[in-house]
Amino acid sequence: MVEKDLLEIKSLSQKDIIEILDLASDMKKILSGEKYSNILKGKTVITIFFEPSTRTRLSFELAAKYLGAHYGNIEVSTSSVAKGESLIDTVRTVEMMKADVVITRHNMSGTPHMLSKYTNMSIVNAGDGINEHPTQGLLDMMTIKEKKGTLKGLKVTIVGDIMHSRVARSNIWGLKKMGSEVAVCAPSTLMPSQIEKMGVKAYNNIEEAVIDADVVMGLRIQLERQKSGLFPTVDEYKEYFGINERILKLAKPDVILMHPGPINRNVEVTASAANSSYSVIEEQVTNGVAVRMAILKILCERRN
Ligand code: CP
Repeated sequence: MVEKDLLEIKSLSQKDIIEILDLASDMKKILSGEKYSNILKGKTVITIFFEPSTRTRLSFELAAKYLGAHYGNIEVSTSSVAKGESLIDTVRTVEMMKADVVITRHNMSGTPHMLSKYTNMSIVNAGDGINEHPTQGLLDMMTIKEKKGTLKGLKVTIVGDIMHSRVARSNIWGLKKMGSEVAVCAPSTLMPSQIEKMGVKAYNNIEEAVIDADVVMGLRIQLERQKSGLFPTVDEYKEYFGINERILKLAKPDVILMHPGPINRNVEVTASAANSSYSVIEEQVTNGVAVRMAILKILCERRN
């Protein structure tokens, strides 16, 4: 059950995921209508991102504001973190200002879990190293469910930098709990060695991986997390692992194309595929706001 924090999908139950997705559908009505409710009146939501973000940080800000909360952001580079203040002291300082929820992204796996032990505020993981990005996994599941009506029995093929992808991990944990079949496809240097233990089928050949897929999800090549080049050239990656319309035609006729963003266009996904009728990439962004509204509502209700 979601209680004080949202740190990962790994420990959520199928019932928790259904509760969040159902509530996110309700929140989407507010988002598509008045964009205002007083559900979070009197609550304060703070974001602290130690890695760059457009979608996640802004969608949490808008989610908080659309639900009537106070909102603040700590800009790490101009905060006292830059003067050497620890993350724990930073979070304790925020708590003493009577904030209720802190949303954080950090390059170290496990940072939000550690912070949770030092504060009574609710902590939301907006991406920790290569571990998890739970709200991305939830918005991806919401988008698939909207398009396909269910998650059960679907084949979802995730293609790209599986090794460094917290998005892949959150999706695998969530989709498996919801009864989907998950295939992952990557060059062997970007595939974790024991990935099958997560209950997925691993491929090095994209043409085989996408056969009969209901969903094809591309991942960003995370050059910032690679110590040295893990594939010879971008052109070679594109040729063997790039998603284009020819590849999508090998999947089911009604396949949908997803990508968490930001996209390296014409590397992991061609611009033409990203703009095609297969693509639900922009709908993922909208659903990101709805899912984050749902998470904030659930956490603040639990706090009450
Ligand atoms: N998908 C995602 O996390 O995007 P941002 O890095 O822009 O937040």
